[in-house]
Amino acid sequence: MTQRKLGRGVAIVGAGMSRFGAFPGMTSRELFVEAFREMRTSVDKGLDPRDVEAIYVGNYSSDLFEGQGHTAPIMADWVGLTPRPATRVEDACASGGVALRQGILAIASGLYDVVLVGGVEKMTNLPTERVTDTLATAGDVVYEIAAGFTFPGFYAAMATAYMARYGATPETFMRVGLKNHDNGSLNDKAQFGATIRQIMDKRIASAKAKGRPVPTWEDEMAFLHDDGANPVIAWPMRLYDCSPISDGAAAVLLVADELAHSFSEAPIAIVGSGQASDSALHDRASLTGLRAAQEAGRQAYAMAGVAPANIKIAEVHDCFTIAEILATEDLGFFAPGEGWRAAEEGLTARTGPRPINTSGGLKSKGHPVGASGVGQVLEIWKQMRGSAGGRQIPGGVDLALTHNVGGTGQTCTVHIFERR
Ligand code: COA
Repeated sequence: MTQRKLGRGVAIVGAGMSRFGAFPGMTSRELFVEAFREMRTSVDKGLDPRDVEAIYVGNYSSDLFEGQGHTAPIMADWVGLTPRPATRVEDACASGGVALRQGILAIASGLYDVVLVGGVEKMTNLPTERVTDTLATAGDVVYEIAAGFTFPGFYAAMATAYMARYGATPETFMRVGLKNHDNGSLNDKAQFGATIRQIMDKRIASAKAKGRPVPTWEDEMAFLHDDGANPVIAWPMRLYDCSPISDGAAAVLLVADELAHSFSEAPIAIVGSGQASDSALHDRASLTGLRAAQEAGRQAYAMAGVAPANIKIAEVHDCFTIAEILATEDLGFFAPGEGWRAAEEGLTARTGPRPINTSGGLKSKGHPVGASGVGQVLEIWKQMRGSAGGRQIPGGVDLALTHNVGGTGQTCTVHIFERR
């Protein structure tokens, strides 16, 4: 396939997000305003909203979650951008990543110079059963959902195939959850911003205060093996292997490269963008990797002219812990079948040689599906500008990557960022 380049360079000059979590009484538009405000204050030289020429909003299913379709103009209105063109982008959990790509393409085409990319989802209005049904519409209803799968079930099937092929165990997946909670404990926007140890201590304190039997877990692994504390959702995926049901929004401001320094002291260049699609699970040659992720990664690396080894940090789509391990292989950080060992050996820890999901990932930070792909970019923005606080990677980050998956891997976007 011909190697594609962007028609002109695109840079990020602002990024922000709302808190991720469960916010009864708040609407998605209010969460979006929260994200927009933070994004606006992050623009070093200030943003006059009248300079924004178009807005792309990743949103999976406000129709079913909130009974509100036609979301994009509402978001534009609530942040004062009407009558600018406002477009909703839907590609399941990859809606945010695809919205980002649409914003990039709109600038690269020469049509616009300044574009707002957002993502938003308000999932907690519905009880878990109905959220599960709503998420299931992102699967192939004829071939996947009719076979009785839920989303935890899909990824459980991938985890089972991976264990059988490569020898990983359920403990491998627990280690990914432990790491991501550890990172998320340093992120004040995270839905579950606590280490597993802190969660255990809270449970023990609560049992003591209520006069109930006090748990006697020896360590974090004992907690994660406890069927009461960490029940099986779809074996081998347990509660702490699953991303939660979340509300939240994120926003980034994109501008043409030549304008970047008129907005920002330290803009971040987007140097690679890839997107690919795939069939439903039943029709794939392998369940131990996502072909769309491999292809999107190939495109992004080629556009950026860099190799996986050059990437310092990555925010990958860990909707379930197995998904993070597959991502680290699909993106070429580790050879097929080696990602699980890397996770067990701590290579993907914040302090390891290949930090993955320093934000806490979707597991700990939360997964408001349409917002997640844009939220990932905020972590890269912070890490590259040295403002990630306690989770800052020492020595600076010059090249970074985001990986955002929709459905069971029918859509994937990969983006590469450079601090110049
Ligand atoms: N990780 C850790 N703890 C979680 C959690 C998660 N993912 N989800 C909920 N909890 C906690 C809650 O805080 C609550 O704790 P508390 O009792 O101390 O207050 C407890 O678990 C029960 O919460 P509840 O909301 O009743 O859980 P649930 O059983 O309704 O939902 C899941 C749990 C795993 C089924 C749900 O989070 C889920 O479906 N996740 C996957 C979402 C998904 O598929 N996204 C798309 C991916 S492609």
